[in-house]
Amino acid sequence: MSIRKRLFISNAAMVFMPIVMVMLYFVFLHLLFGSEINTFTNHGRPGWATPPAGPNQAVFTRLEKTASLEPEKLLDMAFLDSLTSELKAKHAGIIVRKGDHIVYTSANVKEAANGKLPAFGHEGYLPMAWFGHRPYTIRQHDFFFKDGTKGSLFLLGKGGSFPEFARTFFPLIFIGIVLIVVLTNVLLSYLVSRSILKPVRQLSTAADKISRGDLDFHLASNKKDELGKLVNAFDDMRAKLKESLELREKYEKNRRELVANISHDLKTPITAILGYVEGIKDGVANTEEKLQRYLDTIHAKALYMDRLIDELFLYSKLDVKSLPFHFENVRLLPFLEDYLEELRLELADRQVQIDLRVPDALDAVVLLDRNHIIRAMNNIIYNSVKYTDKENCRIQVSVEEQVDKVKIQICDNGPGVPPEELENIFQRFYRIEPSRNLETGGSGLGLAIAAQIIEAHGGTIWADSRPGEGLCLSFTLQKICDQGD
Ligand SMILES: Nc1ncnc2c1ncn2[C@@H]1O[C@H](COP(=O)(O)OP(=O)(O)OP(=O)(O)O)[C@@H](O)[C@H]1O
Ligand SMILES: [Mg+2]
Repeated sequence: MSIRKRLFISNAAMVFMPIVMVMLYFVFLHLLFGSEINTFTNHGRPGWATPPAGPNQAVFTRLEKTASLEPEKLLDMAFLDSLTSELKAKHAGIIVRKGDHIVYTSANVKEAANGKLPAFGHEGYLPMAWFGHRPYTIRQHDFFFKDGTKGSLFLLGKGGSFPEFARTFFPLIFIGIVLIVVLTNVLLSYLVSRSILKPVRQLSTAADKISRGDLDFHLASNKKDELGKLVNAFDDMRAKLKESLELREKYEKNRRELVANISHDLKTPITAILGYVEGIKDGVANTEEKLQRYLDTIHAKALYMDRLIDELFLYSKLDVKSLPFHFENVRLLPFLEDYLEELRLELADRQVQIDLRVPDALDAVVLLDRNHIIRAMNNIIYNSVKYTDKENCRIQVSVEEQVDKVKIQICDNGPGVPPEELENIFQRFYRIEPSRNLETGGSGLGLAIAAQIIEAHGGTIWADSRPGEGLCLSFTLQKICDQGD
């Protein structure tokens, strides 16, 4: 649930919950003080004061009996006082009327005696009559005195006065409502703020950790609200930051390795050149033949360094993507045929056999930069020539056409590469032979450059090999639908 919705519901609850609670509170008050409340609320129904029968029924029956048998006894104050004292209800009392005169009033109900009591002939039960500020219930019985005067006797029940009622209940109601409103507010605010503060606290702890460089933790929220999304976005950010720091670390490590490798690869031939030059200077090369050999070695080392620097330069340009590519739509078959023809001429003096195997009616057009692809393929094929120890080196180039790409595979019959090394041969400066002499080992950049070039063409490159059976290097190029040259 969104925070906005939650706040809206909580605000609505802050209005409605107190209303419901106040209603419940009133029900509770009614259960406790029902009869008192009835006196003021349910006009027309008997209040607590005196139920029609109730606890004073016995006294009333005696009064009725006396009225019919010896009515004059109802003028006997002592008798009536004794009955009054027998009344059970605290606020009950007796009034006796003879003609228009009140002849007896219990001390409890003096107010009623001054008021207007029901006239003769209204015998029965009157649930509510107000005398002064108090409600009364009236039980009336009419009779005749011996002299024929009309007589009425009343049993009255007295309710609490409104000020009394108000004094008792209003503070209760007021305190109750205030308490209910305050408690609901506190409770709802706590619940809502807890659901908001928990993720905020989580975020602040996480931000703290990140500022201390600690990124090895995981934040997750299953809540769908804005803060839940923020927590998850924060964790994505942390993961990306960690990833980029790791990448930076890796780059930094690579850079250090690169510098170390370059220094090493340049240092070795330089040391050799220095050695031979010093030999010449010191007159160690004292014959023409020796001098020529020294100069040839110096030349070879210098050439090696020149090539290494060229390759390094190319590799670093490819690495930072600053080498321009001139892509064109090229029909693959004639391109490969021309390239291999040239290569056969270049390798004419070596015993190398290069075959091209293509599917029938190969008419694929691919997007490539001719010079760069030739360089990549040269790097692969010259490896085959270089590493194949057999007398007859056979290289087979085959093409497989797929839906949106073509796969070009170059296999040789050389020593192959152990399976665990297959991944590594594309790494820069990686050479399987530890010996770094000029004859077998190159700089270790050839396949790294080839891989960079293929990746720049949107293709992939990989190697398959079974030791002793040769190495197969495959790469893909994107096919173009409309044909061109
Ligand atoms: N056809 C192959 N047969 C056997 N091993 C190979 C073959 N091609 C590559 N390798 C192995 O993979 C390593 C990496 O090759 P890569 O071409 O990158 O470097 P290199 O040939 O040593 O140096 P460079 O190509 O820069 O002169 C080589 O040192 C070699 O051990
Ligand atoms: Mg090579």
